[in-house]
Amino acid sequence: MEQLLVINTSPQRSASYSRQMTERFVRSWRIRYPSGEIVYRELGNQPIPHVDERWVEAAFTPSEARNPQQKDVLALSDELVSELKQATQLVIGCPMHNLSVPSTLKAYIDQTVRMGVTTRLVPGTPGSPYAGLLHDKKAYLLLVRGGHGYEEDGAYAHMNFQEPYLRAVLGMLGIHDITTVNLEYTAIGGGQFDDAVKRANLCIDALLG
Ligand SMILES: Cc1cc2nc3c(=O)[nH]c(=O)nc-3n(C[C@H](O)[C@H](O)[C@H](O)COP(=O)(O)O)c2cc1C
Repeated sequence: MEQLLVINTSPQRSASYSRQMTERFVRSWRIRYPSGEIVYRELGNQPIPHVDERWVEAAFTPSEARNPQQKDVLALSDELVSELKQATQLVIGCPMHNLSVPSTLKAYIDQTVRMGVTTRLVPGTPGSPYAGLLHDKKAYLLLVRGGHGYEEDGAYAHMNFQEPYLRAVLGMLGIHDITTVNLEYTAIGGGQFDDAVKRANLCIDALLG
């Protein structure tokens, strides 16, 4: 059965454009997969903890040697990894925050990229020293930016650490089938914004055929 993991990362609620995009995507997904399961992971308003010293020690202790405290420290990470493993498809609604992703999403990534669990190191491999351990997953990135010019070939493409970062880090996990929809101009408004919304909506509606 198909399972969609919906990850919302904006701290805004009803005013959030990325949430409006994930909602639109979910409506379309529900029509395409009437009996599929949808799981939500809220990051924007329910931030998860950053990794700390105890987490690093626990994560790099072999699982069979972990003491009960170390197992406790990794409990949330284990839950997030299990959720991710079960999903067959993933949609992430993600604003650009200071050229990159919201820190809540970075914390989620740090909790879910686990050596020997979701990825492994293969030094010297051309292209990437990581071999992801998650397979057969499709990811949709719904990316929102207040400004404009960050898309490929845009004037500020070189400052975009949002999409290239997400593609690289999902690649670390073994998720390479990634489709992106971009919405820019959200902080600018006007006709260019209206056109951008129309384009983004058309793209979302076309994603699932
Ligand atoms: C903390 C913060 C940092 C931001 N940094 C950028 C940025 O670097 N570039 C940009 O184009 N927009 C930036 N924005 C604007 C957001 O990308 C824009 O408001 C977007 O619509 C937010 O997504 P949301 O509507 O889903 O909340 C920033 C907004 C916030 C709150």
